[in-house]
Amino acid sequence: MPKAKIIGSGFYVPEKIVTNADLEKMVETTNEWIVSRSGIRERRVTDEKTLTSELAFRAAQNALKSAKVNVDYIELILVATTSPDSLFPSVACILQDKLGAKDIPAFDVSAACAGFNFALAAASAFIESGQYNNILVVGADTLTKHLDWTDRGTCVLFGDGAGAMVLSASNDNDGILASHLGAEGEGGKFLIMPTKGCITMEGKEVFKFAVRALEKSVIEVLNKAGLTLNDLDLLIPHQANIRIIDHVAKKFGLPSEKIFVNLDKYGNTSAASIPIAFNEAMSAGRIKKGDVVVLAGFGAGLTYGANVIRF
Ligand code: UT7
Repeated sequence: MPKAKIIGSGFYVPEKIVTNADLEKMVETTNEWIVSRSGIRERRVTDEKTLTSELAFRAAQNALKSAKVNVDYIELILVATTSPDSLFPSVACILQDKLGAKDIPAFDVSAACAGFNFALAAASAFIESGQYNNILVVGADTLTKHLDWTDRGTCVLFGDGAGAMVLSASNDNDGILASHLGAEGEGGKFLIMPTKGCITMEGKEVFKFAVRALEKSVIEVLNKAGLTLNDLDLLIPHQANIRIIDHVAKKFGLPSEKIFVNLDKYGNTSAASIPIAFNEAMSAGRIKKGDVVVLAGFGAGLTYGANVIRF
């Protein structure tokens, strides 16, 4: 059975930086509170005209360039997003048109901050089954367009961005080794973005879920691949809150060189957070040939999902 191998990746974030000092002027908060409670120092924010599909397009172009393939190579486009330009057409279809990809299927995956891992698991299953060989997977969100900028409990946490990967069928022993996905619909009320209106969150409830879900998904996905924590070279968790990551690192006894963190620069970019972090981990030389890397996300739904990859 072929495996899904990452042959290229890219990301894109908007230029505008909003710092904690900027937020101090907008709501009753302090840089000290935001840094100590979340680890976030700044985030990128789109202008009004720039929609999710534009970020997805730029990240996809960068991924195709890094994979050294042109768009005709792609047989399927999956976009993980919960902040689409419109309810329909999907971001994936808008992206297909922007890229000039003809006659290939394209659809969105809605699993909030866990969305990229859901899309990656779907892509891996399509490749293993032989249905498609070359798939573009994108995680893109502009949650800042859906924030109540007077609610200090949410507006300090999120940022915009997009990340993308090109996956191809490979008969080498590397690529996505296993995926593990889950959902707890009964917790949906803790984190909601209505079709009209802004995001509301019960932070403490989501925090408890996040720690539990991250822990569980990492262990389960490693188990599924016949591996243990001792085999793990790098964990790339969803970048929501440094305290969630620290809890899990402590529980697992993982040293900081085995965990990638960049939430200080981007905040929580939802479905984009893991592919952006993956790109920065690659550029920083944190992933070497043969390494075992786990990508693990959690978010609204409530949803959680992880993929384990050998490079
Ligand atoms: O992507 C997946 C989903 N998201 C998450 O994973 C987020 C999970 N939750 C969290 O990260 C944390 O719960 C937060 C960072 C959102 C909040 O941290 P917390 O330690 O759980 O704080 P809290 O909500 O219990 O609030 C503590 C206090 C409250 O004041 P009182 O009621 O104790 O007087 C809040 O009103 O902090 C206050 N507070 C703030 N103060 C200054 C809430 N937001 C702010 C703020 N600045 N921005």
